Amino acid sequence: MEQTKFMKRTHHNNQLRATEIGQTVSLCGWVHRRRDHGGVVFIDLRDRYGLTQIVTDPEKYPNAHQTANEVRHEYVVAITGLVRSRPEGQANPNMDTGEIEVLITDFTILNRARTTPFEIDQDGYVNEEIRLKYRYLDLRRQRMRDNIIERHRVVKMMRDLLDAENFLEIETPILIKGTPEGSREYLVPSRIYPGNFFVLPQSPQQLKQLLMVAGFDRYFQLARCFRDEDLRGDRQPEFTQLDLEMSFIDEQDVMSLTEKMLLKITEQLVPGKKILSKPFPRITWQEAMESYGSDKPDIRFEMKIVDLSTMAGETGFSVFRDAVAQGGVVKCLRVQGGLELTRKEIDQYTELARTYGLKGLAYIQITAEGPKSSLVKHFNESELKEIIRISAAQPGDILFFGAGGFESVCNALGQVRLACADRFGLRNRDQLAYLWVTDFPLFESDPISGSLAAAHHPFTAPRDDQFENLDRHPEKTIAKAYDIILNGYELGGGSIRIHDQKLQSRIFELLRISPEDAQNRFGHLLEAFEFGAPPHGGLAIGVERLLMIFRDEPNIREVMAFPKDSRAKDLMLGAPSSVPAETIEELGLAIKQTN
Ligand code: AMO
Repeated sequence: MEQTKFMKRTHHNNQLRATEIGQTVSLCGWVHRRRDHGGVVFIDLRDRYGLTQIVTDPEKYPNAHQTANEVRHEYVVAITGLVRSRPEGQANPNMDTGEIEVLITDFTILNRARTTPFEIDQDGYVNEEIRLKYRYLDLRRQRMRDNIIERHRVVKMMRDLLDAENFLEIETPILIKGTPEGSREYLVPSRIYPGNFFVLPQSPQQLKQLLMVAGFDRYFQLARCFRDEDLRGDRQPEFTQLDLEMSFIDEQDVMSLTEKMLLKITEQLVPGKKILSKPFPRITWQEAMESYGSDKPDIRFEMKIVDLSTMAGETGFSVFRDAVAQGGVVKCLRVQGGLELTRKEIDQYTELARTYGLKGLAYIQITAEGPKSSLVKHFNESELKEIIRISAAQPGDILFFGAGGFESVCNALGQVRLACADRFGLRNRDQLAYLWVTDFPLFESDPISGSLAAAHHPFTAPRDDQFENLDRHPEKTIAKAYDIILNGYELGGGSIRIHDQKLQSRIFELLRISPEDAQNRFGHLLEAFEFGAPPHGGLAIGVERLLMIFRDEPNIREVMAFPKDSRAKDLMLGAPSSVPAETIEELGLAIKQTN
C-alpha cells in the first residue's frame, strides 16, 4: 500500500485572519461539518486549535470539488488553497477565523472514517459508557478538548510558579511499599520475589519526607496517586496531586505559599469567576463543624447553624432534653424564605438527615402569625422567643432542628444546609469561595471500640500545646493540619510532620501499631529520623478537583484524558482484564475461582 503524499500544513485551523487574504496556504485536519450549497461544498476543517471554513469552486477546480463531494464527517484531509474574504454579510463573528475562507485548489483525503458512534460537532448528551469506550472521539469534542488544554495550562503554571519559588521537581517511584492515606491499596505482584508485592502509592507522602531528610528543602511533584476506594464524582482510582514539601517552615509558610499560587492561577486562568475573599478566610475545624456542619464548608452563602444546647436542655421537649442529658447537642438551621418548602421537600430533607444518623428532623415554620409546628406545644412562650432570638428567624423562614451526637447533628444539618442552598439557588458557579480549615483533630475514634485512627495520616504533628492531651485524652489532640477548601470541596490538605523518632513511635503506639509492625512498615522513616531530619511540612492539591471547579464540570472524569468509569474500569482499554495462565504461574500466584 502506498502512503498518501500531502503538502505539509502552513497554518493551523485557528490562525488565518484578514491579514492573510491573498496568500496560498495548506491546511490539515478533520472534516467537522460539510454543507452543500447550490453545488458548492463548504467544509469546516477542524484541528485542536479551531475551525477554518474551506470551500470548493466546481468550475475552476473540478478535481478538488469532486474529492470534497466524497468526504464525510471525520475524514482526515489536507488541502491547499487561496485565502479570501468571505462574501459581504457572511463573516461569522463567533468564529476566530470567521472573516475569511479558503478556496480549495488541491484536496487530498489522508484517511477515511466510519460513522462515529456520536456526533463530534454537537455538545448534547451522549451515553457515558459510549463516551468512555470511544474516549479518543470524545476528546475531539470542543468541551473536552478545552478541558484538557486548560489542564495543561494549570499544571504549567504550577510548575512555573513553584520553580520561581526555588522548588525542585523530583519524581518518586510508583512501585513502592504501602503508605497509608486511609484507602485500600493497589498491589503489583513481584515476579522475582514470588509471594511479594509492590504497592502503588496512595501519595508520595513518606518519600517526600525522606527527600527533606536528604536536604532538598523544597520539593514538588505532579504525582500520580492510586487509591482503591468507593468512587464518587470527585474521586478516581488514579489521579494527580500537586504534591509539595518544605523544610524549616511552619503552617503559615505552607498556607501562604499555597494561597499565593492559587490566587495567581485563578486570576489568570478563570478571570470570569470572582474570588469571594482575599486573603482566604481561615477557620478551625471546630468552627467549621459548628457553623456549617462540615469540615469542607461551602461559604458562598451564609446560612450558619446555631447551637441551642444550653437552652434546649431545659425545655419541655424531651427529645431535646434527652439529647443534651446524654452528652449530645441540639442545633438549629435557619433557612431564609424556607416557608415555601413543600411537605415533600421537608420529607426529603428528613430522609437525608436520617442517613447521617439523626432520628428525625424537627422543624418550625415562621409564619406572619408566629411559629407554626407540631413542636410548638412543647415549648413555653419565652422558650419560643429564645429560639427565635438565637436563630434570628424572621417571618417566611423555616427552622430545622437536629438533636443527638455532635458529629451526627453537624453532618446532618450540614447536608440539609447544602440541599437548601441548591433549592434556593445559592451556589453560584461564577463565585469561588476558597477557605482554610485548620486545627483538625489528630485522631478519629471509633464510636464503638474507642480505638484511634489517624484523621489525616500518622505522620502529622500534634500542635505544640497538645502534649498533655496526647498523654491524657489523645482523642482530643489537635493537629498541625490544614485543608484548603473550594466551594465545598476539599481541594487539598497537608500538615506539619513529625520529625522526631520518639514522637513518631508514640503515635504508632497510640494507633495500636506494634513496634514490630511499625518497624516492618515504617522502619525506613523511623531510621531516617535518626540521621538529622529537619522540621518539615507540606500539602497536596487535587489537580482534577481544581479543574473540575474551574470548568464547571460535575465530575472529575471530564478533566482527565483517560479516566476510569464509576466502577473503576477502563472501558476503552478493557482493563482490568485477565492475563494468561502462564503469567499467573510465573508470578507464583493462583486464582481462586469465585462466582
Ligand atoms: P489527601 O489524602 O488529603 O492528602 O489528598 C490530597 C488531595 O488529593 C485529592 N484526592 C483525590 N482526587 C481525586 N480522586 C481521589 N480518589 C482523591 N483522593 C484525594 C483531593 C485531596 O484534597 N499526603 C497527603 C498530603 C500531605 O499531607 O501533604 C495526602 O495525600 O483534592
